[in-house]
Parts: sequence; structure tokens; C-alpha cells
Amino acid sequence: MNEIPFADPTPYVGLPPKPKFTDREWFQALDQFARVFAIRPGERVLMLTDPLLDTRVVDAVTGLARARGATVTQYMAPHTSLPGVPEAVKPIIEQADFVVSTWFCSIEDPFNVAMRKRGQRWVKITYFRDLDLLKTPQARFPIELVGEIIRATEKRFPKGRDFDLRFTDARGSDLVIGYTKAMRDAMFAGNRWRGRMFADEPGCYVHYLPTHGPNFWDSTANGNDPQAKVRIEGMLYPQWAIGFAQPFVERIAFRFKDKHVTEVKGDSAEAAILRDMCLGSRLIEGGGCGFNPKAPRYTVYPAGSNSPGALHFGVDLAKPSDYIRRVMPNWEEPPVHQDLIAFDMTVTAGDEPIIDKGFLVALRDPAVVEMAKRYGDPVELLEAGP
Ligand SMILES: [Fe+2]
Repeated sequence: MNEIPFADPTPYVGLPPKPKFTDREWFQALDQFARVFAIRPGERVLMLTDPLLDTRVVDAVTGLARARGATVTQYMAPHTSLPGVPEAVKPIIEQADFVVSTWFCSIEDPFNVAMRKRGQRWVKITYFRDLDLLKTPQARFPIELVGEIIRATEKRFPKGRDFDLRFTDARGSDLVIGYTKAMRDAMFAGNRWRGRMFADEPGCYVHYLPTHGPNFWDSTANGNDPQAKVRIEGMLYPQWAIGFAQPFVERIAFRFKDKHVTEVKGDSAEAAILRDMCLGSRLIEGGGCGFNPKAPRYTVYPAGSNSPGALHFGVDLAKPSDYIRRVMPNWEEPPVHQDLIAFDMTVTAGDEPIIDKGFLVALRDPAVVEMAKRYGDPVELLEAGP
């Protein structure tokens, strides 16, 4: 028997109180915000929004633009999950220098890809739908350091040869993405994999808040061709998915073959829902990883987890899911998408460890630790999650 009484409410205080949010932190976050939105004098800024976006976010970007002598136009769609850019909006996008968007189709729509190839700069604000998010630890985390963590991850991927990117865990997952030398070159050339997380270079695409990092694999590796043949096969036992209140109790198995989900095994109600939802779906994001150590680990809605070392595998569904329409009617993504999430995987690129049982190896890279010293205590900054 434990002799110490456990009263309710507990009289014990063994940890420091949660620090109060201060003006210092507010300005720390504002500086990150101002530098990500690297709008220049005379530029035309376009905001692609939806009715659920906090209008104060539009005000914040507009105020910043006005301060720099730039102009802002806003186009509000009925919702964020448009499958593609409407024809009527294309001429409006075409005129912009800088685009800020909540729309799901921002990244993959070929029109938007072409606009960026011409030099247009984009900020996706999936994680900045409410101005109060500026008060979160992930908003004030130094963005240069996010970039350094990304670079320290990138350099671990073999160069100049083919290799397997392998995802394993104690549940039995063993998923392989067959990387060719050419795929490696294409995937890691973009601004984000070079650690450039401010929207300041021609053709860039960044997320703000800067929680969603570049993916370990997506169609960028294959010339943005979603139909390209890629060797992606094996088993994945995700622990969770978007639209489920909590992680799964059962070990639910997803079999992948040629990028597609060919089998979903399990007896639970969740497994039945996922089978109906995901059979025939195609991997588009394998895996998504965050590089901002202050991103919440166990927040997976609306997309994620984006905590470093946690992974999400985005799949596009073969048909819209009625379950998603019922459970998440106002979801920012269309009901033809799902993220399969795992917190404890080990990832290797060839022989190089990238993630060790859910821990992003780059967080202890000497270059990362060295840079972190500029901003505070490296262990607190890099390893004390929120
Ligand atoms: Fe993602």
C-alpha cells in the first residue's frame, strides 16, 4: 500500500506552474509572422479564404501588406475543400505576386504548381485559422531553427544512388518506398527541404504556422505526377486517423501495393469504417512529418500529427466518405482524404536512421543543437514538447 494519501483535489505540487503568456512572447511570435509573410513594396497579395477563417487573420495579413505598400485582394470560396481551382478564379490568381490560402487544392492543383514555377510565392494557412494561435509555443519557435532541423534531416538521405525509405514499428509495420536517385533529387530540391521556411524566394510554398514540414515522399519526387509508378508496398499499422475521437484500441492493418491500399484488416467498428473508407485509396503523402518541436503531438485534427518524429500518411480515397461527411462536416479537407497516424515508428533511408521509435534523430544533430543555443536552452527548445 502506498502510504501517501492521494487527495482530490491533489495537494501535491511537484512541477512548476504553467508560465503565463507574456508580451515578450507575443512579440517573438509577431516577428516570426512578419518574416514568413515576406510581402514586398508594390506587390499584389491575394488571399484565398473560406467562411470559417477567423477574419482577424485576414486583417493581420492586410495590415502587414499595407505597412509595406502592398495591396490585398480576397476571394472567399464557400469552403476550403474545392477539388481544384475554379476557372473563374484562375485569372485572379494569375495577377498575384503572393498568395495566402486556406484551400486544400493549394499544393497539388496543376494550375497552382504552374503559378509557382513562374515565381509566385505561397503561404498555406491551414494552421493559422485563428489569430489567437499566435499565442501558442509553436508560433514563437524560431523558424531558422525549424529550417536547421529540416536540413539536418535532409542530409541523412543518401545522395547519388537508389535507396529504400523504410517505416517500421513494434506493431509489425514494414512499409517501403523505393527511392531512385532522380526521385531523391526532385523531392529535396524545394525551398522547404532546403530549410527555407520564409516565403521569400521565387516559387516557394510554406506553411504557417510553420508546423507542417516537407513530406518524406509525395508526388514532388515524381515531377508532380500523381499517377507516376512508384514502388510503395508493405504493411502499415496506424495508431489513429482523423475523425476518430481517440487512438485505435485494435491493431488495424493496412496493406499497400503500388501506392494503393489493397486490404484493411481488423474486427473493430473503427476497422470496418476504415475498410469502407480506405480500400482502393492512394498514398499521396508518405509520410508527413513536422519539424517544429513545439507542435502538439496528440492533436491530429485538422491534419497531422505534425510533431517531429510523429508521422501521418495521407491517402486520397477512391470515393467520398459518408463517415467523414457525418463526423467532420466542416473539415478543411475534402471528404476524399484521410491521414493515417503513427507516433512511434522507426524510419531509415538506406542505412541512415531518420526517426528512431518516434524521435526525430535530427533534434540531436550537432548543427541543430549549436544553433538552438542562440535562442535558449537546446534541450528545452528541442526536446520539451508542449
Ligand atoms: Fe499532411
